[in-house]
Amino acid sequence: MGRCGAHHLWLRASVKSVPAETLLGFAARQRAHGLNGRPNYVWDATNQRRTLGRFGWKANQPSVRQQIAPATWGDKGLPSSLFPRQNCADVHTLCRQEVPGNDPELTDSQWDDLETWTLGLAAPARRNWHDAEVQRGASLFEPAQCGHCHVPTLVTADVYARLPQLSRQMFLAYTDLLHEMGEALSDGRPDFDVGARDWRAPPLWGLGLSELVNERGALMHDGRTRRAHQVPAGDLMLRATAPALRHRQRHRPCRRA
Ligand code: HEC
Repeated sequence: MGRCGAHHLWLRASVKSVPAETLLGFAARQRAHGLNGRPNYVWDATNQRRTLGRFGWKANQPSVRQQIAPATWGDKGLPSSLFPRQNCADVHTLCRQEVPGNDPELTDSQWDDLETWTLGLAAPARRNWHDAEVQRGASLFEPAQCGHCHVPTLVTADVYARLPQLSRQMFLAYTDLLHEMGEALSDGRPDFDVGARDWRAPPLWGLGLSELVNERGALMHDGRTRRAHQVPAGDLMLRATAPALRHRQRHRPCRRA
C-alpha cells in the first residue's frame, strides 16, 4: 500500500458550483499553449448518470456527497445507503461478528449533515500579502505560466441551489483539470477515463497552512514533497508549453491495497 495525501476540504462548494462549460473551456484554451488539460467523466451514483469529475487527485468524484460515502465506508468502516454492506475483510473476525449500530451505520440524515458541514467550510483568508517575498512570488506566477493549470480565478454558477449564498461568486482556487504529468508521477493505476500519469492540478489556495494540520506538510498525490517551494516547479516552468511534463523527482507510487 502506498501513501496518498489528503486534500484540504475548503472551497468544495465553490468548486462544485463552477459550471462544467467553464472548466471545459480551460481545456480548449490550454491546447493553444501545447497543454492537454482534460476532464474525467465518472459515475454519479445519486443521479445515476455519467458526469464531470471534480474532486480527488484524479478528479474521480463528482460531488462532495459522493466523496463522503466511500470515505466513511473505506476509511472508517461505516456502511451507508450507497455502500450498504459491512466493510470487513475475511480475517477481521471481530468486525464480522459486530452488530451494526444503525442500519446503515451512516444514516442518510448524518450523511446530509456531513455534506452540509463540508460544503460550508470557509477558505482561510489571504496572509502576509504585503511581505516582499510573497509579492515576488506572486509576480513570478504568471510569467512562469503556472496559471495555465492552476487557474487563479473561478466563478460559481449564476444560481447554486444547494447554497444560494454561493451563487455568482468569484473565488481564487488555482485549479483546473487533469494533466498528463509524465512517467515520474505515474501511480500505475488508471481511474475511469484517466491514465496512471494524469493528475488534477490541485487548488493552491491556503497551501501554506497545510503544515499546521499535517506536520509533514506533505504535498503532491503521494506526499513526495514537503514544502511548496520543493515541488518540481522548475520543470513545470520550463516545460509548461510542452505536451508532456516530466518531473525529476524520484517515482514513489501511490497505490491503494
Ligand atoms: C501542466 C499543468 C501544471 C502547471 C503548468 C503547473 N502545475 Fe503545479 N501541479 C499540477 C498537477 C497536475 C499537480 C499535482 C501533481 C501530483 O499530485 O502528483 C500539481 C501540483 C502542484 C503543487 C502541490 C499541491 C498539493 O496540494 O500537493 C504545487 C505547490 C504546485 N503544483 C505549484 C505550481 C507552480 C508554482 C507552478 C508554476 C511554476 C505550477 N505548479 C505549474 C499541474 C501543473
